[in-house]
Amino acid sequence: MTTIAVFASGRGSNFMNLYQAIQEGQLTATIGLVVSNNPGAPVVQTARSWNIPVRVLSPTRYTDPQQYETDLLHTLAEFHIEWIALAGYMKKIPASVIRQFPNRIVNIHPALLPAFGGKGMYGMHVHEAVFQSGAQVTGVTIHFVNEEYDQGAIIFQEPVVIRECRSPEEIAEKVLAVEHQVYPRVLQQLLTHPFEVVGKRVYFNQESETP
Ligand code: GRF
Repeated sequence: MTTIAVFASGRGSNFMNLYQAIQEGQLTATIGLVVSNNPGAPVVQTARSWNIPVRVLSPTRYTDPQQYETDLLHTLAEFHIEWIALAGYMKKIPASVIRQFPNRIVNIHPALLPAFGGKGMYGMHVHEAVFQSGAQVTGVTIHFVNEEYDQGAIIFQEPVVIRECRSPEEIAEKVLAVEHQVYPRVLQQLLTHPFEVVGKRVYFNQESETP
C-alpha cells in the first residue's frame, strides 16, 4: 500500500475527503503524515483527532532555509512517504523535495490552468477572479508540482459550468464538490497505472481509462 503525505494549510476538506475515500476503499493508500505550515489550521486539529501523525514545519520560522529543507526531507523519510498530495498548501515546495519525489507530488487547483493560476491565485482569490472575468466555465486541475506555482504537467482537468453563478462563493461551492469527486479518483489512477510525462502533458497507457 502506498504511503502518502498530505500537505495542507487550512480547512482541510480535501484531506478529509481523501481520508474518507481510503476508508471506503476507493483509494488504496495510507495517509502516513499530514504536513502543515500553520499550527492553527483546522486540518491539523482534524488529523490529530484521527490519530494521523502531523508535523508543522513553517519555512518562515527558520532563519536558515537549508535547515528547513533538511528537516522536511528527514520528516518525509522518517514516515516512509512515497507520494505527496497537496491540498490547499500555501507554501512553495523546495527544489530538493521535488527532486526527491520526481512526478510524485500532486496538487489540486480550483480552476482550469494555465488560466487563473500562479502566485496569489489561491482560495477565494481564484473564484473572485473567475467571477470578475465573466467566464462561464471554470473547473478543477490536478497537476504535478514543479518549482513554479501551478506550472507542472497537467494530469487531469474537469470543467465546471458556472453560467448561472451569481457570486464567487457559489462558484467556490460548485468547484469544491467536483474537487472532492475527482481528487481521490485521479490519485488512485496515478498510484495504480503507469503514466508518462511528456513536457506538460501526462499520458496514461492505453489500457487504462482516463480517471
Ligand atoms: C481547494 O480549493 C484546493 O483546490 C486549493 O485549496 C483549496 C483547499 O481547500 N488548492 P480544503 O482546505 O481542502 O478544504
